[in-house]
Amino acid sequence: MRPVEVKNGIHWVGVVDWNCRNFHGYARSAMGTTYNAFLVEDEKKVLIDTVKAESLSQFLCNITHICKPEEIDYLVVNHLELDHSGCLEKIVEKVNPEKIFVSPMGGKVLKTFFDCEDWPIHVIKSGEEVSIGKRTLRFFETRMLHWPDNMFTYIPEEKMLISSDAFGQNWATSERFVDEVDKGRVERLMAEYYANIVNPYSPKVIKTLESLGELGLDVDMLCPDHGLMFRGEEDVKFALDAYSRYARQECENKAVIVYDTMWHSTERMASAIASGIADGGCSVRLMSVKANHHSDIMSEVFKSGAVVFGSPTHNNGILPGMADVLTYIKGLRPQNKVGACFGSFGWSGECVNILTDWIKAMKLDLVEPAIKVRNRPDHDTLKECYELGLNIAKAIREKTGK
Ligand code: FEO
Repeated sequence: MRPVEVKNGIHWVGVVDWNCRNFHGYARSAMGTTYNAFLVEDEKKVLIDTVKAESLSQFLCNITHICKPEEIDYLVVNHLELDHSGCLEKIVEKVNPEKIFVSPMGGKVLKTFFDCEDWPIHVIKSGEEVSIGKRTLRFFETRMLHWPDNMFTYIPEEKMLISSDAFGQNWATSERFVDEVDKGRVERLMAEYYANIVNPYSPKVIKTLESLGELGLDVDMLCPDHGLMFRGEEDVKFALDAYSRYARQECENKAVIVYDTMWHSTERMASAIASGIADGGCSVRLMSVKANHHSDIMSEVFKSGAVVFGSPTHNNGILPGMADVLTYIKGLRPQNKVGACFGSFGWSGECVNILTDWIKAMKLDLVEPAIKVRNRPDHDTLKECYELGLNIAKAIREKTGK
């Protein structure tokens, strides 16, 4: 897509990645994504953020619609993950900038990615300002949101906050602003992005939102580096409120049953537990790890008050598909939930002990009993599963208070 002038003299020059389906090598991005970058025309011309290496030619084309790359004076590197810095080396060569602004941790991380000894790197402190003519750039370090080097760039004269990965969504669109598309869809994609990328850093999100409030920043345009941008008081508040909810990990009266199965015994148990949860007044979703990507499972886990894991015993362990999903979910640190488990076995029966250990390691509140059955669940076992479902629903409602 061609550049878009988002404010007078400030242009979106990013790239739309229509066919990205594997975001960063681990998360599903079913709707593609964008790498947003901004060119500010002032006494100094400033390029804020770059794009991934594969998108260099489109990026240069977009810049060239506004000015010659060599006319750019300053580069701002808000974040060094390679979707925003993959083409940085080439851009530095082409632009030959007077200054490159990075956060203190950015200065350290930069050296681990690039041969940059002769680059004009300016490490700026959080809160520091740089005049570029009629406008000012003010930088805020947002360490561990979600990498050590992250920072935001604020342009007070324009009430514009460029927020790196925060508030992003993976959605490739021809539109650039949230007010041009379905806001419900933006919210779902923002939640998915948060669940799969930002969730482990929720305490940092809370602190960042608090400091933005304390600083009293006036923002009427919020520009994440992925997806659509928020303009106007209402949409900026929509994004900030959503992040405030996500960071508190508020959950709904719902459960997700994540399971794998060999000969359908564990699946039948899952189904009976689901019936109990539903009859106990909570919504429930069954997600086989074979039928669902771990990103989609995590997005459900994020919203749910309960996560229920099921696996048969396999070679004294659990099925490998379950191990993948458990590793992924644990790393994303879901909180404020209850957990339960179940499984079938033929002879040794380690499955529920292993799944219980995972639940404890995730620090979820365990709902007992863990149920295991030899070979096939009979009527009595399925009744036990149903009752476990009722107990899970009760525990969810106690947790959410709804
Ligand atoms: Fe969009 Fe952390 O990179």
